[in-house]
Amino acid sequence: MLDFAIDLARRAGALLLAGLERQRSVKLKSPFDLVTDIDYASEALIVEAISQQFPDHAILAEEGGSTARDSAYTWVIDPLDGTNNYAHGFPYFSVSLALLQDETPILGVVYDPMRDELFSAELGCGARCNGRRLHVSTTPQLASALISTGFPYDYATNPDNNAREFTALQARVQGVRRAGSAALDLAYVAMGRLDAHWELRINPWDIAAAALLVSEAGGRLSDWHGNPWTPWTDRLIASNGLIHEELIQALQV
Ligand code: IPD
Ligand code: CA
Ligand code: CA
Repeated sequence: MLDFAIDLARRAGALLLAGLERQRSVKLKSPFDLVTDIDYASEALIVEAISQQFPDHAILAEEGGSTARDSAYTWVIDPLDGTNNYAHGFPYFSVSLALLQDETPILGVVYDPMRDELFSAELGCGARCNGRRLHVSTTPQLASALISTGFPYDYATNPDNNAREFTALQARVQGVRRAGSAALDLAYVAMGRLDAHWELRINPWDIAAAALLVSEAGGRLSDWHGNPWTPWTDRLIASNGLIHEELIQALQV
């Protein structure tokens, strides 16, 4: 199943790259939440392949391609994570595929077609990038950390929008990045390029695959109070483990 998911993520990534070369059709789901024709094309490719290969499995997909089935297995799909970047031609976006057994991710693949970096993990077997084993960073404290975050699409209308937390954290670390693909941000935590990521109102398809990368690379995942992470945790912290408690405290603003 991992080989299947890797092949599929690469095929969807090739489709994203090809779409970048031509004029994209962009629609607004809400004033700041975009969707392109390529989001739908990528999801159609992925959903069709899974339905053919594993017709009994359930599917949870961002752009409407979900199928509820009475199965222990659910594929969780973000066909294009970082749509806003993609629509503007900013080269930071990914394809994210996770397979849950009941509520637990058992495999996860995140693919960045711009850098041809394929991140994969299997429960209990470690995380890899292009075959190379991944480990989280050893940064011991927030003060020496580079971390990332994201903001919800209703930022302008909902005061619970991460602005306070961002201001507080920006003063405590070496840098906060808002790069625009939560799946890739978490893959970077797994790889040690970032020391932690936090976000609120995040969806299972944004992070189910990348969460497994982080845990299999030796990192820690929780909600903002330190409770164990599940795919339905909407206030997420993913870190190298060492700065996790400090980050939980720093977010209590
Ligand atoms: C978004 C990206 C972004 C995160 C948002 C997500 P999309 O996903 O992951 O980094 O901050 O919360 O919704 O809409 O580009 O698939
Ligand atoms: Ca997403
Ligand atoms: Ca998406």
